[in-house]
Amino acid sequence: MAHPMIAPSILSADFARLAEEAAAVAGSDWLHVDVMDAHFVPNLTLGLPVVQSLLKATDIPLDCHLMIDNPGRWAPPYAEAGAHNVTFHAEATDDPIAVARDIRAAGAKAGLSVKPGTPIEPYLEILKEFDTLLVMSVEPGFGGQSFMAEVLSKARAVRKLVDSGELTLLVEIDGGINTDTVEAAAEAGVDCFVAGSAVYGASDPAEAVRALRAQAAS
Ligand code: DX5
Ligand code: ZN
Repeated sequence: MAHPMIAPSILSADFARLAEEAAAVAGSDWLHVDVMDAHFVPNLTLGLPVVQSLLKATDIPLDCHLMIDNPGRWAPPYAEAGAHNVTFHAEATDDPIAVARDIRAAGAKAGLSVKPGTPIEPYLEILKEFDTLLVMSVEPGFGGQSFMAEVLSKARAVRKLVDSGELTLLVEIDGGINTDTVEAAAEAGVDCFVAGSAVYGASDPAEAVRALRAQAAS
């Protein structure tokens, strides 16, 4: 792959030192920000005020992954705030097209995410409304879980449509990405790799980003 993108997930960073933790991964393509509401997923993280502060603290484009109910109500403000990507879950709304259009109208790229058990076929038709497909390779909610290789068939299916020119979007994967799993994901046609514990659990996070990128490109 020409330029594999790496998006460190601050879920595994020290939340009391987010500006420094962002600086520790300078050179990353995106900084992945997991927003959880304790309803859509059984965990609670951070919301718009933290994202607004983070936008002032780093030049790395923010890749906001909203694991929340009612994205139609809550997603557009992240775009208005200046997030680069605003990704919400297909399972959380009956009208993903409307949410995507609102995100784009507010100036951000729109992303659709699917949980491991959610098939991609029903969404292929609407992917033209999106800039990114975020394939979850763990159950959303927590960092440090094991990679579920069976989701790679979804990445492959969408990669095929991108390569044939039927779709223009980036394929992103999230969950359990590390030096043991990144190659299989790259082989399936993933463009962007989210990594939390593999980056922030490393003694040198910037080096961990470089290592993942090199391995994805190999
Ligand atoms: C999980 C989050 C992920 C998480 C990944 O619900 O969406 O972004 O931070 O963490 P790792 O890379 O440790 O699996
Ligand atoms: Zn995420």
